[in-house]
Amino acid sequence: MKARILPPTPENIAQAAEHLRAGGIVAMPTETVYGLAGSCFNQNALTRIFSTKERPQFDPLIVHIAESPLNLLVDESALSTPAKDRAELLTRRFWPGPLTLVLPKHSAVPDLVTSGLSTVAIRMPRHPVAKMLIEAAGTPLAAPSANRFGRISPTCAEDVARELGDRIDFILDGGPCEVGLESTVISIDAQAQVTLLRPGGISVESIENCLGIPIRRISDSTALLSPGLLPQHYAPAKSLRLLPSPVVSLTSAQMKNLTEKNILPPPRLAPHLGLLVFSGDEQQIGQAFAHLTERTVTTALLSVSGNLEEAAREFFKKLRFLDHSSATLIFAEPCPTENGLGLAISDRLKRASESRKD
Ligand code: TXA
Ligand code: MG
Repeated sequence: MKARILPPTPENIAQAAEHLRAGGIVAMPTETVYGLAGSCFNQNALTRIFSTKERPQFDPLIVHIAESPLNLLVDESALSTPAKDRAELLTRRFWPGPLTLVLPKHSAVPDLVTSGLSTVAIRMPRHPVAKMLIEAAGTPLAAPSANRFGRISPTCAEDVARELGDRIDFILDGGPCEVGLESTVISIDAQAQVTLLRPGGISVESIENCLGIPIRRISDSTALLSPGLLPQHYAPAKSLRLLPSPVVSLTSAQMKNLTEKNILPPPRLAPHLGLLVFSGDEQQIGQAFAHLTERTVTTALLSVSGNLEEAAREFFKKLRFLDHSSATLIFAEPCPTENGLGLAISDRLKRASESRKD
């Protein structure tokens, strides 16, 4: 591994900023997940971000800023007054924080950032190290999550090293991410229509409260509006399958169905199962599942009390833990709610589970 994990001292931030100004790329902490950052105006840096992640160039990047003026990135003349008002309401309420706004792009923003779209995605992270790095670099930073394309997003510096450690030089260590899931992405079009493109760290309910209107939610059939909504995403290397209900309420009919449909293959093919549990007693639930399936089970719990913030923070970490365990197949309990952060958690769970049909 060549990457150095650096504590966020002023010297290290200055060194990372210098590297960014020279067209290099750096993994940086944000409050959501770690990002792989490069200057948003430097073609070399942008190209390296895509190649390092093995990310297809049709998937646009989010631009990270440290302070408000948007006029370098956004074509404000393309926005109606109500659209501007809505953008301002949201940025005042949620920035800095895990909300990304997709707005008409300024011609100065390279097409590589936006994959040729006429819009640009912008967010102001609230992690102090991200803020200091953007300020020191003196340029907005394009930064996708610091994982290989389609894989689990990293929520600590060590996980970035496991994903990309052989491909990058610097990882700034800002500790474990406070939110743990990516930002909520919404677009505001010229006519002020607001659309949810990706659920994330800010709940839809709080956005609707702030604006005083319901926002449009796109269905998977229109997912190409935001390529991050491709069905296969955030996937562990192992197959992940959703259980029809929490382990405590699994019926024998449901178990029979899992076996008949080969969702639970015969023991010789899947002797050791991983289990992602939302709440409750980890050991007890693991034992119950081991008893039901007659296999060895490795369990990972998201939150003893079922707290959604804690579950979100733990989600990618626990998925990664199961992926690296000796389990051959991972099962996950369904997210108990689609309210608040539950929408983002269940979105990530569905996408992680749709990747393999074997
Ligand atoms: O929390 C986050 O947003 C993290 C941290 C590092 O800031 N970043 C992140 O980036 O999740 P990434 O590249 O993994 O996801 C960016 C999402 C993708 O779903 C992409 O398709 C969408 O934002 N996106 C970017 N620009 C867009 C645009 N112009 N129109 C629609 N969707 C866009
Ligand atoms: Mg990502």
